[in-house]
Amino acid sequence: MPDLLVKLYELPALAPLQERLLAAGIKLRHPLAFEKKAVVEWVNREFGAEWASECEVAFARQPISCFIAVQDGKIIGFACYDVTAKGFFGPTGVTAEARGQGVGRALLLAALHGLAEMGYAYAIIGGAGPVDFYRKAVGAIEIEGSEPGIYRDWLPTGERT
Ligand SMILES: CC(C)(COP(=O)(O)OP(=O)(O)OC[C@H]1O[C@@H](n2cnc3c(N)ncnc32)[C@H](O)[C@@H]1OP(=O)(O)O)[C@@H](O)C(=O)NCCC(=O)NCCS
Repeated sequence: MPDLLVKLYELPALAPLQERLLAAGIKLRHPLAFEKKAVVEWVNREFGAEWASECEVAFARQPISCFIAVQDGKIIGFACYDVTAKGFFGPTGVTAEARGQGVGRALLLAALHGLAEMGYAYAIIGGAGPVDFYRKAVGAIEIEGSEPGIYRDWLPTGERT
Protein backbone atom coordinates (compact mmCIF):
# COMPACT_ATOMS: atom_id res chain seq x y z
CA MET A 1 0.00 0.00 0.00
CA PRO A 2 1.76 3.15 -1.20
CA ASP A 3 1.48 6.70 0.09
CA LEU A 4 -0.35 9.17 -2.15
CA LEU A 5 0.10 12.90 -2.68
CA VAL A 6 -2.81 15.34 -2.95
CA LYS A 7 -2.72 18.99 -4.08
CA LEU A 8 -4.59 20.96 -1.43
CA TYR A 9 -4.70 24.10 -3.57
CA GLU A 10 -6.97 22.44 -6.15
CA LEU A 11 -9.50 20.72 -3.90
CA PRO A 12 -13.11 20.26 -5.04
CA ALA A 13 -15.64 22.20 -2.95
CA LEU A 14 -17.19 20.35 -0.02
CA ALA A 15 -20.47 22.30 0.25
CA PRO A 16 -22.52 20.65 -2.57
CA LEU A 17 -21.77 17.15 -1.30
CA GLN A 18 -22.35 18.19 2.31
CA GLU A 19 -25.75 19.64 1.39
CA ARG A 20 -26.73 16.49 -0.50
CA LEU A 21 -25.86 14.36 2.54
CA LEU A 22 -27.68 16.71 4.89
CA ALA A 23 -30.82 16.24 2.78
CA ALA A 24 -30.44 12.50 3.43
CA GLY A 25 -30.10 13.15 7.19
CA ILE A 26 -26.32 12.72 7.32
CA LYS A 27 -24.36 15.46 9.08
CA LEU A 28 -20.60 15.97 8.98
CA ARG A 29 -18.98 17.69 11.93
CA HIS A 30 -16.02 17.77 14.28
CA PRO A 31 -16.64 15.63 17.35
CA LEU A 32 -16.55 17.44 20.67
CA ALA A 33 -14.03 16.60 23.39
CA PHE A 34 -16.62 14.90 25.61
CA GLU A 35 -17.45 12.53 22.73
CA LYS A 36 -13.89 11.14 22.65
CA LYS A 37 -14.71 7.81 24.32
CA ALA A 38 -17.75 7.20 22.11
CA VAL A 39 -15.87 7.98 18.91
CA VAL A 40 -12.68 6.07 19.76
CA GLU A 41 -14.68 3.04 20.91
CA TRP A 42 -16.71 3.11 17.67
CA VAL A 43 -13.52 3.23 15.58
CA ASN A 44 -12.06 0.36 17.63
CA ARG A 45 -15.19 -1.77 17.12
CA GLU A 46 -15.44 -1.07 13.40
CA PHE A 47 -11.79 -0.83 12.34
CA GLY A 48 -9.49 -2.05 15.16
CA ALA A 49 -7.11 -0.76 17.82
CA GLU A 50 -4.52 0.86 15.56
CA TRP A 51 -6.98 3.26 13.95
CA ALA A 52 -8.56 3.88 17.37
CA SER A 53 -5.13 4.87 18.71
CA GLU A 54 -4.62 7.29 15.85
CA CYS A 55 -8.08 8.71 16.42
CA GLU A 56 -7.20 9.38 20.07
CA VAL A 57 -4.37 11.62 18.88
CA ALA A 58 -6.90 13.76 16.99
CA PHE A 59 -8.60 14.51 20.34
CA ALA A 60 -5.34 15.96 21.69
CA ARG A 61 -5.78 18.86 19.24
CA GLN A 62 -8.03 21.89 19.18
CA PRO A 63 -9.82 22.04 16.86
CA ILE A 64 -10.06 18.25 17.07
CA SER A 65 -8.47 17.00 13.83
CA CYS A 66 -11.21 14.54 13.00
CA PHE A 67 -14.59 14.63 11.28
CA ILE A 68 -17.44 12.27 11.96
CA ALA A 69 -20.55 11.56 9.88
CA VAL A 70 -23.69 11.16 12.00
CA GLN A 71 -27.10 9.79 11.00
CA ASP A 72 -30.03 9.22 13.37
CA GLY A 73 -27.76 9.97 16.33
CA LYS A 74 -25.24 7.30 15.35
CA ILE A 75 -21.73 7.54 13.91
CA ILE A 76 -21.53 6.09 10.41
CA GLY A 77 -18.05 7.26 9.41
CA PHE A 78 -14.92 9.12 10.50
CA ALA A 79 -11.80 10.70 9.06
CA CYS A 80 -8.74 11.97 10.93
CA TYR A 81 -5.94 14.21 9.73
CA ASP A 82 -2.53 15.37 10.94
CA VAL A 83 -2.33 12.46 13.40
CA THR A 84 -0.29 9.62 11.86
CA ALA A 85 2.37 12.14 10.85
CA LYS A 86 2.29 15.85 10.05
CA GLY A 87 0.27 16.53 6.92
CA PHE A 88 -1.08 12.99 6.69
CA PHE A 89 -4.73 12.21 5.95
CA GLY A 90 -6.26 9.19 7.70
CA PRO A 91 -7.28 6.90 9.11
CA THR A 92 -10.79 6.95 7.65
CA GLY A 93 -13.68 4.54 7.35
CA VAL A 94 -17.41 4.31 6.73
CA THR A 95 -19.48 1.56 8.31
CA ALA A 96 -20.26 -1.16 5.73
CA GLU A 97 -24.03 -0.47 5.53
CA ALA A 98 -23.50 3.25 4.84
CA ARG A 99 -20.99 2.95 2.00
CA GLY A 100 -21.62 4.04 -1.59
CA GLN A 101 -23.59 7.22 -0.88
CA GLY A 102 -20.78 9.76 -0.83
CA VAL A 103 -19.98 9.74 2.90
CA GLY A 104 -16.37 8.60 2.43
CA ARG A 105 -15.74 11.25 -0.21
CA ALA A 106 -17.32 13.98 1.94
CA LEU A 107 -15.23 13.01 4.98
CA LEU A 108 -12.11 12.98 2.80
CA LEU A 109 -12.85 16.46 1.44
CA ALA A 110 -13.69 17.87 4.89
CA ALA A 111 -10.42 16.57 6.33
CA LEU A 112 -8.34 17.76 3.36
CA HIS A 113 -9.89 21.24 3.60
CA GLY A 114 -8.94 21.08 7.30
CA LEU A 115 -5.32 20.40 6.35
CA ALA A 116 -5.37 23.25 3.80
CA GLU A 117 -6.68 25.60 6.51
CA MET A 118 -3.77 24.52 8.74
CA GLY A 119 -1.40 25.81 6.05
CA TYR A 120 -0.34 22.66 4.25
CA ALA A 121 0.01 22.85 0.45
CA TYR A 122 0.00 19.07 -0.05
CA ALA A 123 -1.47 16.18 1.91
CA ILE A 124 -0.16 12.66 2.11
CA ILE A 125 -2.52 9.73 2.25
CA GLY A 126 -0.54 7.20 4.24
CA GLY A 127 -0.59 3.55 3.21
CA ALA A 128 -3.58 4.02 0.90
CA GLY A 129 -5.76 0.94 0.51
CA PRO A 130 -8.38 1.98 -2.09
CA VAL A 131 -6.04 3.96 -4.37
CA ASP A 132 -8.74 4.41 -7.06
CA PHE A 133 -11.10 5.97 -4.52
CA TYR A 134 -8.49 8.68 -3.76
CA ARG A 135 -7.49 9.12 -7.41
CA LYS A 136 -11.10 9.65 -8.46
CA ALA A 137 -12.12 11.86 -5.52
CA VAL A 138 -9.15 14.26 -5.34
CA GLY A 139 -6.68 13.36 -8.12
CA ALA A 140 -4.24 11.72 -5.68
CA ILE A 141 -1.02 10.41 -7.22
CA GLU A 142 1.19 7.63 -5.99
CA ILE A 143 4.51 8.54 -4.37
CA GLU A 144 7.08 6.29 -5.97
CA GLY A 145 9.00 4.00 -3.58
CA SER A 146 6.73 4.90 -0.63
CA GLU A 147 5.88 1.34 0.36
CA PRO A 148 6.13 0.49 3.26
CA GLY A 149 6.90 4.15 3.99
CA ILE A 150 6.70 4.81 7.74
CA TYR A 151 4.78 1.58 8.31
CA ARG A 152 7.72 -0.65 9.23
CA ASP A 153 8.93 -2.39 12.39
CA TRP A 154 5.59 -1.74 14.05
CA LEU A 155 3.99 -3.59 16.94
CA PRO A 156 0.89 -5.41 15.69
CA THR A 157 -2.00 -4.20 17.82
CA GLY A 158 -4.84 -4.31 15.31
CA GLU A 159 -7.16 -6.60 17.29
CA ARG A 160 -10.57 -5.15 18.05
CA THR A 161 -10.70 -5.10 21.86
C1 LIG B 1 -12.96 3.71 1.28
C2 LIG B 1 -14.27 4.10 1.98
C3 LIG B 1 -13.97 5.12 3.10
C4 LIG B 1 -15.18 4.76 0.92
O1 LIG B 1 -16.37 5.20 1.57
P1 LIG B 1 -17.75 5.35 0.78
O2 LIG B 1 -18.66 6.16 1.64
O3 LIG B 1 -18.25 4.02 0.35
O4 LIG B 1 -17.28 6.15 -0.52
P2 LIG B 1 -18.16 7.10 -1.42
O5 LIG B 1 -19.58 6.60 -1.45
O6 LIG B 1 -17.96 8.50 -1.01
O7 LIG B 1 -17.50 6.87 -2.85
C5 LIG B 1 -17.02 7.93 -3.66
C6 LIG B 1 -16.59 7.35 -4.99
O8 LIG B 1 -15.48 6.45 -4.81
C7 LIG B 1 -15.81 5.15 -5.30
N1 LIG B 1 -15.26 4.17 -4.35
C8 LIG B 1 -15.69 3.91 -3.11
N2 LIG B 1 -14.92 2.96 -2.53
C9 LIG B 1 -14.00 2.60 -3.46
C10 LIG B 1 -12.94 1.68 -3.45
N3 LIG B 1 -12.69 0.90 -2.39
N4 LIG B 1 -12.17 1.59 -4.57
C11 LIG B 1 -12.43 2.37 -5.65
N5 LIG B 1 -13.43 3.28 -5.71
C12 LIG B 1 -14.20 3.38 -4.62
C13 LIG B 1 -17.33 5.09 -5.32
O9 LIG B 1 -17.77 4.18 -6.30
C14 LIG B 1 -17.69 6.51 -5.66
O10 LIG B 1 -17.59 6.72 -7.06
P3 LIG B 1 -18.67 7.67 -7.83
O11 LIG B 1 -18.43 9.07 -7.28
O12 LIG B 1 -18.31 7.52 -9.26
O13 LIG B 1 -20.00 7.14 -7.47
C15 LIG B 1 -15.04 2.87 2.55
O14 LIG B 1 -15.19 1.91 1.51
C16 LIG B 1 -14.36 2.20 3.74
O15 LIG B 1 -14.61 2.56 4.89
N6 LIG B 1 -13.51 1.21 3.49
C17 LIG B 1 -12.84 0.45 4.58
C18 LIG B 1 -11.81 1.29 5.27
C19 LIG B 1 -10.75 1.81 4.30
O16 LIG B 1 -10.30 1.13 3.39
N7 LIG B 1 -10.31 3.05 4.56
C20 LIG B 1 -9.28 3.70 3.76
C21 LIG B 1 -7.93 3.31 4.27
S1 LIG B 1 -6.63 4.16 3.40
